[in-house]
Amino acid sequence: MTPINSVGVIGSGLMGSGIAQVAAQAGCQVRVRDTAIGQLQKGRASIEKSTAKLVEKGKILASDRDAALSRLEFTTDLGQLALSDLIIEAITEDLDLKNQIWSELDRLCPPHTIFASNTSSLTIAAMAVATTRPDRFAGLHFFNPVPLMTLVEVVRSVGTSQETVDRLFAFARQAGKEPVAARDSSGFIVNLLLVPYIFDAIRAVERGVASIQDLDTAMRLGASHPMGPLTLADFVGLDTLARIGDIMFDEYRETRYAPPPLLTRMVIAGFQGRKNGRGFYDYSQEPPRPSELGL
Ligand code: 3HC
Repeated sequence: MTPINSVGVIGSGLMGSGIAQVAAQAGCQVRVRDTAIGQLQKGRASIEKSTAKLVEKGKILASDRDAALSRLEFTTDLGQLALSDLIIEAITEDLDLKNQIWSELDRLCPPHTIFASNTSSLTIAAMAVATTRPDRFAGLHFFNPVPLMTLVEVVRSVGTSQETVDRLFAFARQAGKEPVAARDSSGFIVNLLLVPYIFDAIRAVERGVASIQDLDTAMRLGASHPMGPLTLADFVGLDTLARIGDIMFDEYRETRYAPPPLLTRMVIAGFQGRKNGRGFYDYSQEPPRPSELGL
């Protein structure tokens, strides 16, 4: 099987920069593309911070960090990614925007390039149709924070070939991850179970079952979760979570996937979670304090 030696990453946000980092640490030549230079600089800074932390904790050698950083390039030019063996897209969950990029990349890239989307809930088949290579199109879903979370969902759609799936499994292992196979249905495995769980926690807060803090403490200490569900909601991003819920509700028409009213109102009011400092907790103080939310 031909190994993946070069990777193009579309989007240098939280997920894109994490994916670029693990691909570079795995020995691949990586080019990251974003539309704004400022965003690319943020991505590079977060990779430098993350790899510095990994060196400090003895998880990687300083020399390996330096080698990984030297394998990373940042560009605003999509054409620079054309010769990659694999392109991974990690931009906002907007199908039209993703498909504009996919159809442009389809024109730019040679036939052997594999395309993979890091979407958390959109349909892979709906992106593959924007290209002439549905057999070399799949989902490759990483988890936040990418450098620490070992799972990758490899998502096979109706047209994806076995060879593409095998090469993505091999790439994920090369990047130190544990791949699992999932079908192309909204939410795949993890979000199919995680999103209704987080929504149930929000509904419990709406009903006054417990305070935000007690609910989180209960799941951390009673179920040994690393984070309680409301801390996790803030960590994922409340706008992102509501968007994933909307997409999953559209697919399944089951109320458990519908964003609870409290979440919808928080998003309308500009509560995005940890990324803007306002969510179920107020991050302007240390330690963060539960938000009032009119409850
Ligand atoms: N790179 C390198 N180091 C990092 C890092 C990164 N990106 N992010 C955090 N760290 C470091 C921290 O700096 C910290 O270092 P320290 O011990 O020197 O202070 C260390 O990792 C441990 O972090 P914390 O002390 O903050 O806390 P934890 O021990 O709880 O570990 C965690 C952090 C791994 C994030 C853990 O809390 C966890 O597993 N949380 C759940 C995450 C989760 O469920 N993610 C999936 C979300 S769903 C998703 O992504 C899918 C999408 O489609 C929505």
